[in-house]
Amino acid sequence: MKDALQLIASEERFSLLHAGRFESDFAADVREGLTAKFKSLPPRWFYDELGSSLFDTICFLPEYYVMRAEAEVLSTFRREIVRSFGPALRLVELGSGTARKTRMLLELLAPPQPSLEYVPIDVDETILERCGADLLAEYPSLRVTAICSDFSKPSVPLSLLPPWRGRTVVLFLGSTIGNLEPEAAVAMLTDLRSSLSPGDALLLGADLRKSPAILEPAYDDSLGVTAAFNRNVLARINRELGGEFDPRLFRHHAFYEESVGRIEMHLVSERAQSIRIAALDLTIDFAAGESIHTESSYKHDYETLTELAARSGFEIERHWTDARKWFTDVLLVAR
Ligand code: SAH
Ligand code: TRP
Repeated sequence: MKDALQLIASEERFSLLHAGRFESDFAADVREGLTAKFKSLPPRWFYDELGSSLFDTICFLPEYYVMRAEAEVLSTFRREIVRSFGPALRLVELGSGTARKTRMLLELLAPPQPSLEYVPIDVDETILERCGADLLAEYPSLRVTAICSDFSKPSVPLSLLPPWRGRTVVLFLGSTIGNLEPEAAVAMLTDLRSSLSPGDALLLGADLRKSPAILEPAYDDSLGVTAAFNRNVLARINRELGGEFDPRLFRHHAFYEESVGRIEMHLVSERAQSIRIAALDLTIDFAAGESIHTESSYKHDYETLTELAARSGFEIERHWTDARKWFTDVLLVAR
């Protein structure tokens, strides 16, 4: 009985909204990306239920320092960070995933507010449902309004929310900003700024530039989990679009391009091959050694972050880093 009541109570505290339609976008993106002169696929398609699980596993890998470095920042400075947010806030998170690190902040944010609204926004509906259910069980005063949406135009999902008189604080953690091309990052933050009021805040997690000897293994681990994560996009084309890829015939290749400060991830065709994709009525030819660029991960310094903030209508108010200065969380305030 108690369980049933709890279930009803938590159902009232949870809603899942959808913004934009993107089922058909996968087919369009695959067609466009694989028929281009230099083949590429947008990284958002990594994240279906299997992809999100693989990413969660990446976060436990010894080589993938990114998750632990940001967790160190958030746990060391959580009191200061939460104080900088101020009272009466609404918390939005872009690319929320499992929201594991978000809990470090929720532990301090939730108790003082009678009812705290948390708005996770992610492309993967399965992770929004799982994470939402977990959070409601952990934080009795939390209300979760999950939005399944692309975050590249945050104004689209944010327009679904009712007006809010207090401060809106947006989290964009995990260096996910680095997966956008610099111009796309400015466009995205400018669009986000347009749905905020002056004084609203963005806590942005960014990975800092460092030696390739540390960076490259983080994206090419010895157990091959990152390779599996990368290849999952081919498996997804097989599952959802009737593709005939053999993921084993594509090698995971990750390297740091120091001149532009980014990791590039590719899938390299081991040999010449032609791959049929039934739902697109299309056959794609690969030369031996030809690659699909699947993701970039830009690394920052305070100069690039200051420029990014200034160009999108924000000002950097404060920043925090881990002891090794490998990762930073920056508090941007809407001007
Ligand atoms: N914030 C978490 C997860 C980072 S992984 C952390 O710091 O650990 C990136 C997350 O963003 C995934 O959950 C993925 O599903 C989501 N994501 C990736 N591209 C997206 C897009 N274009 N729109 C919305 N969500 C996206
Ligand atoms: N945005 C994070 C990063 O660039 C997480 C991430 C996205 C990632 N895609 C990845 C990590 C692929 C490892 C491999 O670090």
